[in-house]
Amino acid sequence: MAEEKSLENVDQNANLVGRKSDLIGVKRQIKIDGRNILFVHKKGKFFALDSKCYHSGGPLHKGDIEDVPNFSSCIVCPWHRYKICLQTGESVYQEAYPHQPVKRGPWKSTGVKQRTHCVIEREGNIYVQLSDLTQEMPSDHYNKERPPREEGVP
Ligand code: FES
Repeated sequence: MAEEKSLENVDQNANLVGRKSDLIGVKRQIKIDGRNILFVHKKGKFFALDSKCYHSGGPLHKGDIEDVPNFSSCIVCPWHRYKICLQTGESVYQEAYPHQPVKRGPWKSTGVKQRTHCVIEREGNIYVQLSDLTQEMPSDHYNKERPPREEGVP
């Protein structure tokens, strides 16, 4: 019963992105409730996450996608090359050894930094529902809608 109720909530708050068949292979920025969202189809899955990078606001929709061991597909920020897991929003890095520059260690996570959003497939359509925004996340700083500046205020 509780599951049915949560599906109702999904329907009420979800935003139609388009027909699934039209979204295969896409990587684009969409806007939902004033928030810029990176929407991606990769390896048979759809992903939605904040489109401005948590680090300094880089445009993730212009980044390349790379496969990273243990983290599946990651978007690479075009500004400082940070890698962010499309599935979880974790920022990932490969351990390096200063005294052994050729040797590289395993890929690790610095934690979830980029907010991800829910993608729903229903009757051939794809919807995105913004995640619960009550808990602050690093990417919120660059992705929250800000009130317009008053004239004369720097
Ligand atoms: Fe994205 Fe710096 S702004 S890595």
